[in-house]
Amino acid sequence: MSKLILAIESSCDETAASVMRFDEESSVFEYEFLSSVIDSQIDLHAAYGGVFPDLAARVHVQKIRPIVDEAVRKSGVTLSEVDYIAVTSGPGLIASLLVGVEFAKGLALGTGKPLLKINHMDGHLYSFWESGETPAFPAVSLVVSGGHTLLILLEEFGKYRVLGSTLDDAAGEAFDKTARMLGLPYPGGPALSKLAQTSTGLVPEFPRPMLKNDNFSFSFSGLKTSVLYHLKKRAELSETEKADVAKGVEDAIVSVLTAKTVKAALECNARTITLSGGVAANSMLRETLAKKCQELGLTLLIAPRGLCTDNAQMIALAAGLQVYHKQINPSPLGEVRADAGWEI
Ligand code: KG4
Ligand code: ZN
Repeated sequence: MSKLILAIESSCDETAASVMRFDEESSVFEYEFLSSVIDSQIDLHAAYGGVFPDLAARVHVQKIRPIVDEAVRKSGVTLSEVDYIAVTSGPGLIASLLVGVEFAKGLALGTGKPLLKINHMDGHLYSFWESGETPAFPAVSLVVSGGHTLLILLEEFGKYRVLGSTLDDAAGEAFDKTARMLGLPYPGGPALSKLAQTSTGLVPEFPRPMLKNDNFSFSFSGLKTSVLYHLKKRAELSETEKADVAKGVEDAIVSVLTAKTVKAALECNARTITLSGGVAANSMLRETLAKKCQELGLTLLIAPRGLCTDNAQMIALAAGLQVYHKQINPSPLGEVRADAGWEI
């Protein structure tokens, strides 16, 4: 039977809502997005060089209602037809999360609809999932965002184990911080990647942290320090030299992410590799991993670009998959709380 989910996301600096239709009883999980609306605060935070949490929360308060209204209107269905409300309850910035969670609770109370609390990282993890397809398990999933770098062994839907994560900075953070050193605007990942594409000179070889270690942990703070020293040694870099540094940074991050993911896939006899999260929008990472997977005969499932950075479609998708697999129950409203540190 066809069901409708209204999903709300406000964990960082995007206020987003989406309506998704899915089939609760089909033999394979099938879904369709009816709408997706995202209000990004990137321009507001760029002046601070990163997300300013108080400002983010204030803007969420202003935007949440119009964004949810617009998502419902664009979906062509009415709020009363919606079967579930899903909301990101963590991890993220506490004040930002509170806005989405409290709004969703109010909406659930007012409409009598069941409320599903969804982990933001579950949203990122499953955003590669295509309608009507079941991935070949086991899969090794690389989830790379601004706050997390996770390598996960996915044995089947909902059954997973974190193989490794970052000991310090996340991959997105490494992009953002080094981009800032090069004078690039926030968010640094896309800006640094664009600059790297113009590199024509000698590309500096930055350290590939933890590449040879016998585990699946990541560490990116050493790379950041190495870039800092590299820049300090030179008075003023020309635009082309900056592009070479950007290329060096991208090469280092992409090669570590790719090598560790492939190593994990081989050790775990994975049949599939999946890639998602904000950094999965990076073309070099997508292409490098695709090439490796082709060489090894592994299936690669990558989240569509629009579902890589924060959005509510991935929250609807994670919620729908959990309902379909009977792995979630609606929460009593009194038990739904914003949880900034909710790890998967
Ligand atoms: O998943 P996301 O939107 O937010 C978090 O949950 O953290 O990820 C944002 C991160 C930022 O660090 C941003 O610089 C990075 O994803 N990012 C990229 C690219 N697009 C976004 N990093 C590298 N290359 C890109 N094209
Ligand atoms: Zn995110």
